[in-house]
Amino acid sequence: MASDAVDTREFRNALGCFATGVTVITALDGKDEAAGITVNSFSAVSLDPPLVLWSLSRSAERFAAFEKAESFTINVLGTEGAEISSRFAMKGESRVDLAATVPTRLGPPSFAEALAVFECVKHAHYDGGDHIIVVGRVRDFTYARDAGAMEPLLFFRGRYGAITGLKS
Ligand SMILES: Cc1cc2nc3c(=O)[nH]c(=O)nc-3n(C[C@H](O)[C@H](O)[C@H](O)COP(=O)(O)O)c2cc1C
Repeated sequence: MASDAVDTREFRNALGCFATGVTVITALDGKDEAAGITVNSFSAVSLDPPLVLWSLSRSAERFAAFEKAESFTINVLGTEGAEISSRFAMKGESRVDLAATVPTRLGPPSFAEALAVFECVKHAHYDGGDHIIVVGRVRDFTYARDAGAMEPLLFFRGRYGAITGLKS
């Protein structure tokens, strides 16, 4: 496409051809409350220092909760996490039931259905058009060491899926 005018629906469809994993990111929102958001824009940035990024929509109702958060926890979901992903993608439904979570060192909760967990502190925010790019510095992480223990949850063309065969 040569012009700057992009058909947003079509652009989304094209981006959806890039298969991704799925994360739910949590942040503390008030004293004893946490917010969650389903995110597939997660990406690794740097090994040393350990940095990761994700993008946060400026139009999200939960924008303020995550924009002001000094720390956040990134939960990379396994296939058992599909319901959690749908739950935290629902409009206006960002509240985390802390009873259903696992405590972390920095505070923002994690989920037992996570294949990997990255505990981050805010490193930088950058303008990203209708999103902001959030860069986190990883302070702690865990992951399922047994590769067969949990399958990753995938997102492709607007649908959830699982890996059907890995080539060695
Ligand atoms: C698979 C998937 C990936 C998503 N990835 C992102 C993302 O990277 N950044 C983002 O801001 N919203 C993302 N969303 C949208 C949010 O999860 C959520 O739907 C939105 O914040 C809800 O609107 P509200 O905050 O106005 O209630 C994604 C949704 C889905 C289903």
